[in-house]
Amino acid sequence: MKAKIPFLKPAPARLSLAEDHLREIEESGLYSNFGPTNAAFESRLITEIFGGVGACATVCNATIGLMLAIKAAVMDDEPSRRRRYALMPSYTFAATAHAALWSGLTPIFCDVDPQTWLPCLESERRILEKFGDEIAVVVPYATFGADLDLDRYQSWAERFGVSVVVDAAASLGTLDRHGRGFGAGFPFPVVFSMHVTKTFAATEGGLIYASNPELIAKLRAMSNFGFGEPRTATMLGLNGKLSEIAALAALLKLDGFDRIVERRAALYRRYRERLAQFDFQAPTAKRQAHQFVPLLLPERADAQAVSRHLTEAGIGHASYFRPHLGEQPYFQRVCQLLSTPVADRLSGRSLSLPLHDAMLEDEVNFVCDVLIRAVF
Ligand SMILES: Cc1ncc(COP(=O)(O)O)c(C=O)c1O
Repeated sequence: MKAKIPFLKPAPARLSLAEDHLREIEESGLYSNFGPTNAAFESRLITEIFGGVGACATVCNATIGLMLAIKAAVMDDEPSRRRRYALMPSYTFAATAHAALWSGLTPIFCDVDPQTWLPCLESERRILEKFGDEIAVVVPYATFGADLDLDRYQSWAERFGVSVVVDAAASLGTLDRHGRGFGAGFPFPVVFSMHVTKTFAATEGGLIYASNPELIAKLRAMSNFGFGEPRTATMLGLNGKLSEIAALAALLKLDGFDRIVERRAALYRRYRERLAQFDFQAPTAKRQAHQFVPLLLPERADAQAVSRHLTEAGIGHASYFRPHLGEQPYFQRVCQLLSTPVADRLSGRSLSLPLHDAMLEDEVNFVCDVLIRAVF
């Protein structure tokens, strides 16, 4: 049955209405390899999202972006093979662990904070103190687009000699606690997704940002077969480039994007007001880019029965992240598991509700009414 209110309703830029732009690409004969559309997009991102500070390189998706950034961090550390772990929260998406595994590292999972659902300071500290010189890179996830305290990661880098790669998959559009685009000014790579299900919906795509332009130049070369010189590999590489058509979808999405983030934030607030008896993620950002509306069901609620009620009412929904990484059989075999009681609890109670750019308040009210009836 097709949901009356789908969980997500992707709204990328309408390429069918962008004939002139498409014709320009055709006439230029440049379809990829960091062409003019991609260059225009990167330049606008730096100005409009990152306050004119730093540099960025697009990639074909965020998973490849994470792989490149993590691999680059390990390459810098080549003399010391002892550093074999990538420290990341268990409460995240499979892509983060896969990217570390593809880079030859073993993910080691920390727990998350029970209020913000961000990586837990104490859990990270304990693992760093115990495994410090075996950890190559810390890969925190800015959970669901929340603002992550990036100063903490700079201090881990200084204190434990680790590198840092931030998984900011859902964060394009988030303003940090100071009102800057999330990640602006951070010296380590910050990786964003532009997958069509994200707030910044642009078919497929990813973005690596860092304040250091040389690091971005290196990651860009790695994403282009390791060509540090014309048609000459000077480092490890693969093909992670974004096509000009995908770059066009991204470029056009920037127009009116701020209004979209604001609108989604207003709908999210409406959900919170109507569902005051549920636990939500504690806010940390000045403005969070909301992809959907995650909340926790009460301990005694029957998650399956609630899901059935929502489905019967035609309401699409999901449960991010159930199962979390430490609960998935493949990761259980190949990763270093530690106890993560908070992630276990969040995963067991998580319910993610619909959010769309053009969702109506009445639709939010309807979802809330059905959920309240299903739970209480
Ligand atoms: C936390 C997290 N990291 C990484 C990714 C990967 O992004 P992409 O789909 O652009 O490869 C996702 C995708 O949803 C994600 O949620």
